[in-house]
Amino acid sequence: MPRKSYVTTPIYYVNAEPHIGHAYTTIVADVFNRFHILFGSKTFFLTGTDEHGDKIAAAAQKVDQTPKEYVDQISQLFRDLWPRLNISNNYFVRTTDTQHKETVKMILSRVKENGDIYFSDYEGLYCVGCERFYTERELVDGKCPDHLTEPEVISEANYFFRMSKYQKWLIDHIHNHPDFIRPERYKNEVLSFLREPLEDLCISRPKSRLNWGITLPFDENFVTYVWFDALINYVSALGYPDGELFKEFWPCVQHITAKDILKPHGIYWPCMLKSAGIEPYQHLNVHGYWNVSQGKMSKSIGNVVRPLELEGVYGLDAFRYFLLRDMVFGLDSEFSEDALVARINADLANDLGNLVSRSLTMVHKYFKGELPEPYFSEKEDEKLKTQALDIVCRYEELK
Ligand code: ME8
Ligand code: MG
Repeated sequence: MPRKSYVTTPIYYVNAEPHIGHAYTTIVADVFNRFHILFGSKTFFLTGTDEHGDKIAAAAQKVDQTPKEYVDQISQLFRDLWPRLNISNNYFVRTTDTQHKETVKMILSRVKENGDIYFSDYEGLYCVGCERFYTERELVDGKCPDHLTEPEVISEANYFFRMSKYQKWLIDHIHNHPDFIRPERYKNEVLSFLREPLEDLCISRPKSRLNWGITLPFDENFVTYVWFDALINYVSALGYPDGELFKEFWPCVQHITAKDILKPHGIYWPCMLKSAGIEPYQHLNVHGYWNVSQGKMSKSIGNVVRPLELEGVYGLDAFRYFLLRDMVFGLDSEFSEDALVARINADLANDLGNLVSRSLTMVHKYFKGELPEPYFSEKEDEKLKTQALDIVCRYEELK
């Protein structure tokens, strides 16, 4: 039986155009996928767009469009971008797809049948940018650490997912599978979060406040919280529960995300899977952030780096090479066009270019411009075999 590989990127919000951060994760996933194809694996590579919630509804209103018109348009920008960056995803999932919506409803019903959903009053600190409630402890100087804005106090009756019930299970699972979340710094971050009692997750929004979402299957006055909806894309795209793709690829799933969405992926998602009776994912691979001029990229600052502009100037392979070579997976990196040029000059033009040029000169000089059949002495042959074996062993470890 061939080996299998299933890799996912986050599904990106359609409230902004794609930038270099989105391109990075998607190119990493593409390289990961190509690597597995080279090794003869059967692979599935998923990306897509996250289209419900407050943020999207607000973005649509701003440009005087209905949410549907708006999401169709921006989702298409992402879909069109990927082939231009030589990304070969097998499927593009949208949370407004009928299949996805049906799967979300089915999982909600299942989790409810398990007794893991209850109705209650709640007052909490809500960051619209993150689309989630914060605890006091998570705020920095009373502000959301990601958006640097003060969260709103929201008080309303909602449905809750009994996430606290799975805290002990999750801690044990992480201890028993030390590379469930990697690199280690992010596993430690999740474990440190789990040292405090885990709160239940608010998973609904009243339609009186927001109706751009998936209606709860058990109460039509509410829509599903956008994160509970979005995470399910990883199984809905495979046709969960009966789809062949789900049976074939779910057991080997690897998620790739940046550190900004560690909590939903490292905590909410495993607990949701456990409650729905689905096996946990294999690995969550978390990378750092691309910063620009020592700070965050943002539309308001006007320092957003657009991948196609760079690709147009420097060429696609050089651009992809730079992204993979310059960031240590897991750590933040500083993006600048100077760094890109320096990397292209040093590694590609100089090192690789010289190697190719010298090899070609020698082929002309010693072999009249024609490549001879490769020949290895027995000793060299053994050495090559050992090296090849070493690569295969490392590949096995990677899985
Ligand atoms: O969070 N550096 O979508 P999103 C590196 N819809 N990567 C970056 C980056 C940066 N500066 N900026 C963005 C969401 N990314 C949710 C996800 S998944 C079920 C739902 C990349 O559009 C990185 O992969 O805000 C990050 O995790 C993702 O974009 C966030 O994309
Ligand atoms: Mg974001």
